Amino acid sequence: MSSRSRNWLHAMGAVLLAAVAIGCARVRPVAVGRAPRTLRTAFEGAFLVGAALNVAQFSGRDTAGAALVRAQFNAITPENVLKWQSVHPRPGVYDFATADQYVAFGERDGMFIVGHTLVWHQQTPRWVFQDSSGNPVSRDTLLARLRDHIETVVGRYRGRIRGWDVVNEALNDDGTLRPTPWLTIIGVDYLAQAFRFAHAADPAAELYYNDYALENAPKRNGALDLVRRLRAAGIPITGVGLQGHNRMDWPTAAQQDSTIVAFAGLGVRVMITELDIDVLPRPNQSATVLNPYPNGLPDSVQHALAQRYAELFTVYERHAADIGRVTFWGVADGDSWLNHWPVRGRTNYPLLFDRQHRPKPAFEAVMGVAAQAPAR
Ligand code: XIL
Repeated sequence: MSSRSRNWLHAMGAVLLAAVAIGCARVRPVAVGRAPRTLRTAFEGAFLVGAALNVAQFSGRDTAGAALVRAQFNAITPENVLKWQSVHPRPGVYDFATADQYVAFGERDGMFIVGHTLVWHQQTPRWVFQDSSGNPVSRDTLLARLRDHIETVVGRYRGRIRGWDVVNEALNDDGTLRPTPWLTIIGVDYLAQAFRFAHAADPAAELYYNDYALENAPKRNGALDLVRRLRAAGIPITGVGLQGHNRMDWPTAAQQDSTIVAFAGLGVRVMITELDIDVLPRPNQSATVLNPYPNGLPDSVQHALAQRYAELFTVYERHAADIGRVTFWGVADGDSWLNHWPVRGRTNYPLLFDRQHRPKPAFEAVMGVAAQAPAR
């Protein structure tokens, strides 16, 4: 090809590119010349914005999901792969293959990587609490197992996983300690011990107590007591995770507000760790139709969901000084655990991105809250 025709081709290419660019500019005028509109940039200086990831997203199977995560979020939590049953399925057997992929995914973009969770009564194999004949183990044996688990798991990711949900869901609705095998076999000090083991394994990691429905007064008071006692005993707890599995009418903005204020008042950081909003009826609400929106969310509900998200983020923004991170429990609606809980096989709409990964009106509403926030 002569240099002249090459030049001509280049020129035509440039014209074509310009035409495409102008075309795009007509369709999406707001995108031209501006940074992409992302959650992580919108809330920069306020708090991190995270998402819980499933295996498909960080293993490379769900490339669209992974791209959305990288674009929108700067913190990640593993939805399941660091739970006891995943990482420590049998006595003496640790399996870190999948968890390693999760951590590597976050490290590539310098994300804040969260570990979830070290001590829980669910997704923990039965053998943990039993001897080889199936009888409950002694306090000393269970403490030794707890220590080995935490040292091994936290130690493996020392300096890489930056915050751990050390104890998950230890409280009853009335604020008393839940009678899990951890409590009945070890006694009330199992929480303090878990935090000590985690701190020893990674002194720089942030350590959280994580639970749901702490916005309800009795449970909140129990959690406040717990945190107070741990801190008074010099236990290194840095934050409280409010899971944030919300409904359209619960918690109220006032409940959310006072809960954040109450924990921040104790001198701990507050994280919103598992945010979603369930728009479907609960089976115990005597609803006759349990899966009312199998083919899409009606506009009125879509709008109400957007407003509800705006309401919650307005509260988070107001307390940005005390909130370290807001993490969604999932990325797009199709990924959400709420399609399977508390009723299997429903179609739920709890997140900011729809099943095709497109931003929903709720996304716009949340971005609107960031845009109105005072300059940071
Ligand atoms: C859920 C996961 O999303 C599901 O995939 C799994 O089947 C069960 O656990 N509180 C927690 C999370 O702390 O670990 C739970 O995650 C949701 C409730």
